Amino acid sequence: MSNIVVIGTQWGDEGKGKIVDLLSEKSEIIVRFQGGHNAGHTLVIGSNEYKLSLLPSGIIRKKKISIIGNGVVVDLLHLCKEINELIARDISITSKNLKLSENCFLILPIHKYIDELREGIKNSAEKIGTTGRGIGPAYEDKVGRRGLRIADLKNKVFFEKKMRALYQFYNIWIAGSGFKKRNYKKDLQLIFESYQKVQPYVCNTWLELNKYIKAEKKILFEGAQGTFLDVDHGTYPYVTSSNTISGNATIGSGVGPNLISYVLGITKAYTTRVGNGPFPTEEKGNLGKKLAKVGKEIGTVTGRKRRCGWFDAVLIKKAVIISGVSGLALTKLDVLDGFDEIKICYAYKLNGKQIDFLPLNEDEQKILIPVYKSLPGWQSNTFGIKKFEDLPDKAVAFVKEIEKLVMCSIDIISTGPDRLHTIVLNKFLS
Ligand code: GDP
Ligand code: IMO
Ligand code: MG
Repeated sequence: MSNIVVIGTQWGDEGKGKIVDLLSEKSEIIVRFQGGHNAGHTLVIGSNEYKLSLLPSGIIRKKKISIIGNGVVVDLLHLCKEINELIARDISITSKNLKLSENCFLILPIHKYIDELREGIKNSAEKIGTTGRGIGPAYEDKVGRRGLRIADLKNKVFFEKKMRALYQFYNIWIAGSGFKKRNYKKDLQLIFESYQKVQPYVCNTWLELNKYIKAEKKILFEGAQGTFLDVDHGTYPYVTSSNTISGNATIGSGVGPNLISYVLGITKAYTTRVGNGPFPTEEKGNLGKKLAKVGKEIGTVTGRKRRCGWFDAVLIKKAVIISGVSGLALTKLDVLDGFDEIKICYAYKLNGKQIDFLPLNEDEQKILIPVYKSLPGWQSNTFGIKKFEDLPDKAVAFVKEIEKLVMCSIDIISTGPDRLHTIVLNKFLS
């Protein structure tokens, strides 16, 4: 096994955390390269469950190095909290196993405030349904060239000046919209206090990575969110504010694209979405409720109910192409155990015409009618199965049908939340 990028192929929550945890057994370095603490990755190891938002999923394993790359936006207050929670559970976190890029942009308290205010004043049709964690405003400031980076904290005077200017910039809109202005002084104090705590982890991560590459260490890049939340390729504007596809692994960590030897796309055996926006195969009735109940589809970060629907091969086909996916990990197969009919969407009807791609505009995405292929359910227990031979024939037929429709091999099948509930089909990954 060599350097691998793991990405979500749907709207997030595909089970990336579980698979990254599994693969990190054979990797030495685990890198987060985009997003922030909007992510919620769940790892189950025996009776222990861990929910990580900002820390790479490799942090749970001993003797692994976890890197928060430059493409990640970091809320230092949250980072301290997440580190402390894990330390309280006897996970060792030191400057040896956690490296935080000095050129990560910061999520400041005012970003969270702006995120919440903006969502609050939109009518329900306009709301994106963000996680309210300040992700959008922080990325806006990065490309707006007024953002603050971790390295800026080295110079207190300079940092205070920049932060004051940023708060002034936002306070014009805040006051103009009739909200209470935010004073930077208390927030500045909080940021400095958190910085003192995380300072030991801060370093030049692209240089560190280069050292590991030269020593031929195996690197695993852990994506957050999913392909259709990508700011360029997703269901814009109902997306997050970063690029979530594989190409960003190199930009968000400072390694060259020639380093990547395999891209693993994580896909659920059905589809979920948390937050607003088009979702062609959504099942709003009892079927959707059943998927949500059996799949325990509650958002890790916000506790919101995830919307559920059938597997959409049109989406995955695009995800495979734009990320150069080498193989897929099909997760939550066990959730479909109790369905007598299982559907796969392979095309859409748009104004009476059949199409096999996702149109770009929101108004068209919202009126798509899915065209389904119906497969008989296997109606037997696949939970925890570890061998492909033990899967029921109808489940194998479902897997084969997906491979055919999305034109990509399924290299891992996940049959339960535990790292052991997994069938690894491609030797490259084992
Ligand atoms: P991520 O954001 O992509 O890491 O996914 P989340 O952790 O937010 O959501 C996936 C959920 O499904 C978590 O609760 C996992 O423990 C759980 N899960 C992952 N794989 C499987 C599986 O194969 N079967 C079942 N039943 N649950 C799974
Ligand atoms: P993981 O890594 C699912 C969604 C939010 C909202 C939109 C924008 O666990 O798969 P943001 O706060 O990013 O500005 O919100 O993106 N979203 C996710 N949905 N899983 C995630 O991460 C998500 N991160 C953001 O619900 O619709
Ligand atoms: Mg999640």
